[in-house]
Amino acid sequence: MTLATESQLVTPHGGELVDRTGERPDDLVSLETVRLTPRELADLDMLASGALSPLTGFMGKEDYERVVEDMHLASGVAWALPVCLAVEAEPKGERVALADESGRPLAVVEVEETFAYDKQREAESCFRTTEDEHPGVARLYAQHDRYLAGTVTVFERQQPAFPELHRDPRETRALFGERGWKRVVGFQTRNPIHRAHEYLTKSALETVDGLLIHPLVGETKSDDVPAAVRVEAYGVLVENYYPRDRVVVSAFPAAMRYAGPREAIWHAVCRKNYGCSHFIVGRDHAGVGSYYGSYDAQLIFDEFAPGELGVEPMFFEHSFWCRACGQMASPKTCPHEGDDRVFLSGTQVRELLGRGELPPEEFTRPEVAQVLIEAYRG
Ligand code: ADX
Repeated sequence: MTLATESQLVTPHGGELVDRTGERPDDLVSLETVRLTPRELADLDMLASGALSPLTGFMGKEDYERVVEDMHLASGVAWALPVCLAVEAEPKGERVALADESGRPLAVVEVEETFAYDKQREAESCFRTTEDEHPGVARLYAQHDRYLAGTVTVFERQQPAFPELHRDPRETRALFGERGWKRVVGFQTRNPIHRAHEYLTKSALETVDGLLIHPLVGETKSDDVPAAVRVEAYGVLVENYYPRDRVVVSAFPAAMRYAGPREAIWHAVCRKNYGCSHFIVGRDHAGVGSYYGSYDAQLIFDEFAPGELGVEPMFFEHSFWCRACGQMASPKTCPHEGDDRVFLSGTQVRELLGRGELPPEEFTRPEVAQVLIEAYRG
């Protein structure tokens, strides 16, 4: 068997891994400063590391219009969601400093243009709803009315929320190469890994070389399980139930958009930049409430030409523990119905934990349940 090298991994989106890190400019103090929101800060960091390759900065009008209309950049490369910086007014200078919420400057943007945009249209196209109860739409409606476009140079990276899990695309690629992996499946999650998630990841891993468990650790809505609790739960799960040499756990710094189908494409393409040739899309991926059909996030992959995305989705149906089968299964593999199938919603799990009760073992591994119950006890 020949070992795979880094060069055998999937090519980054658009061909090259972008690097937008650079030097702190001498004239920084003289520049106008824009403070970024948590979502924009997460995007900025991903622009720096190449996680959003081929993007080199916040989108201009031409890219934005194409993305909103038909999920492509002006260059024709597939791209599902806007990556834009909302500002109050047009800046005076040609360069603007970008700062975190405390005002600490992190980057400079070469201003190419600013432009007005239609929030309702963006909501309808990207989120498939204009209702402001949708958390992604609410955030869109709350932001400033103009977008500022331009290439960024990041001279100070943000402190990662979980330094031990921080790995840029360059680093995950190097690691996969070292391990001799060529076919790698990425797994996005914003939840603790319950049995269904474990089933998906292990089923996928049966057919590829390695698994990247890539939990999103950027901003999520307030009733999602906090990232710190999840990270602890991933640790105990992987330690007890996954083969160490087949799995990498690393943090995905993005903020959740809750854009369902379009976010599934965006998630897949970002993971391709991290070196994943495959990407898991299960039931209601990146969904919220009942805005999306259970499998809309799978169907949207058919809107792209074969091979266009350059990352292979691995689809899974709604998985559960079946008492009659005595194992995890899905409607594709299990003939039983009704009470044989153990289903719990996120709300039901939160209610159990709130009452100090452990979720059943068929739903959550006891080690994970223990982490969750301690967190809920506070
Ligand atoms: S998400 O917002 O990151 O998609 P979550 O962490 O719940 O939310 O899901 C992670 C991945 O697992 C997604 O691809 C999702 O579709 C899938 N998934 C979650 N639960 C199930 C389940 N019971 N059956 C099949 N797929 C699931």
